[in-house]
Amino acid sequence: MQVLLDGAFVAEDAARVSLFDRGFLYGDGAFETLAAYGGRIFRAAQHLQRLEASLRALRIEPPRTCDDIEADLNALLERNGMRDAILRISISRGPGPRGASIQRTGPPTYAIACYPPKLPAEPLRRHGAKLALVSVRKTPAQSLPVQAKSANYLNSILALAQAADQGADEALLLDMRGMIAECAYSNVFFVTRNGLVTPALETGIFPGITRAAILDLARAQAIVATEALIDPSLLQHADEVFITNTVSGVLPVRAVDALSFVAPGPVTSRLARGYWELVEREAGPRWRDAQGGGG
Ligand SMILES: Cc1ncc(COP(=O)(O)O)c(C=O)c1O
Repeated sequence: MQVLLDGAFVAEDAARVSLFDRGFLYGDGAFETLAAYGGRIFRAAQHLQRLEASLRALRIEPPRTCDDIEADLNALLERNGMRDAILRISISRGPGPRGASIQRTGPPTYAIACYPPKLPAEPLRRHGAKLALVSVRKTPAQSLPVQAKSANYLNSILALAQAADQGADEALLLDMRGMIAECAYSNVFFVTRNGLVTPALETGIFPGITRAAILDLARAQAIVATEALIDPSLLQHADEVFITNTVSGVLPVRAVDALSFVAPGPVTSRLARGYWELVEREAGPRWRDAQGGGG
């Protein structure tokens, strides 16, 4: 597999970044994960606008325009002969002297890597994932710009490690007020008798592109969909829970700690179907796994 590093195609095992790169030293950078279906990237413009917003929030000069980055993504897919792929753009502040100051740093390091598609394991797609409510809290917006997909992913990494220790597939994090925020690498939705509800952006969650698509789909299907501050006690009244992200789409949740849910429930199934139809309309055929499944 080839990667694109600072404008050049390089074999993946030959790609090298400086020991003094701020991304390595401090997690000082941003990233974005996109999915290609049949050679077309789903909602590329939205991902690239979000990347631009991440860089702005982190005060990193964008190395390329959104249009140029989109051209690079397509060139890399073509170079690797891939039509279905996960694409990861990484941009760090670049090399710099020792210390936290952003003076005399750069130019930014700019890389794109391409991975084969990866569906959640079949049992998770069929029976749902298990979440653990972890003690790690979502980093507050006052500490790190939450809308930035920062390369410093330790908040999610530590939350997920704690969930894994408890035998769960994903972590559910609360914000500093004790309200439900999101998962380590996905947004979360609940179906109650009042409709669909997901934590509001003001909770300090990451503005997922899949989350936005699901809210639009729900409203188009006349499902009451609200964004709210959600107390964890809502879990006791939820009929269905699901999580969303670019790589997995919609993944049903069968349990949060000891609480069980129907997985997939009827609303989750309807929205998942709608999501994959949207992907197929805007991009290309959804990924199928080797067994011809696809969830
Ligand atoms: C913390 C967090 N929340 C939510 C998401 C889902 O975002 P998207 O749907 O844009 O992939 C991600 C994506 O990686 C994430 O890292």
